Amino acid sequence: MTTFREALPTDLQDILRVHRAAFQRAEEAELVAELLQDPSAQPMLSLCAVDADRVVGHVLFSTVRLQGDSPSAACALMAPLAVQPSHQRAGVGRGLIEHGCRLLFDHGTELVFVLGDPAYYGRCGFVPAIPLGLQAPYAIEPEEAWRVRAPSAERFGILRGTVESPRALAAEHYWRE
Ligand SMILES: CC(C)(COP(=O)(O)OP(=O)(O)OC[C@H]1O[C@@H](n2cnc3c(N)ncnc32)[C@H](O)[C@@H]1OP(=O)(O)O)[C@@H](O)C(=O)NCCC(=O)NCCS
Repeated sequence: MTTFREALPTDLQDILRVHRAAFQRAEEAELVAELLQDPSAQPMLSLCAVDADRVVGHVLFSTVRLQGDSPSAACALMAPLAVQPSHQRAGVGRGLIEHGCRLLFDHGTELVFVLGDPAYYGRCGFVPAIPLGLQAPYAIEPEEAWRVRAPSAERFGILRGTVESPRALAAEHYWRE
């Protein structure tokens, strides 16, 4: 059975292994290591999926600021998300998203942003952000890949602005889908 818990410092190598295996390259694992050290992304939620005492999935949520009309809104950016190939398509990714969003919303986060596959994240409760007046740090193509989720839709239309990237994610290439 898969369970979900906040990452411990001793999980780091297992977390990096999951990202390398899921993305089949080193870039996302290196980004995780950088984000964990990035003061501009704190406080951060680092969440693991664990099966038989082994880390099989991981997601990071960084704190981000919203520049514009709602600078004090509590916002998070979900990236990156990875599931060990042997455990994909079994609800682990969905479970990480649900547990992470619930923890954040319970502690006052108002918006969680993600850049990624519109079909997958659409099924996980994320709606297109740009029509709501919530911009990414760079122009996104296709626009529907930039998405947002809130505890309730009531905040949409009230909170507006442009997400300011954490320093570790500032390079434009991270914002191409
Ligand atoms: C994307 C990822 C996190 C999904 O995690 P998962 O545990 O496999 O996904 P879930 O079990 O929660 O959901 C499975 C459903 O999502 C869809 N899905 C899974 N991976 C998908 C992908 N890469 N693109 C689009 N849809 C995807 C499928 O429709 C699947 O349903 P199905 O099995 O009925 O076809 C995982 O496949 C992964 O680590 N991929 C490589 C890294 C990556 O692309 N990360 C996301 C970008 S940051």
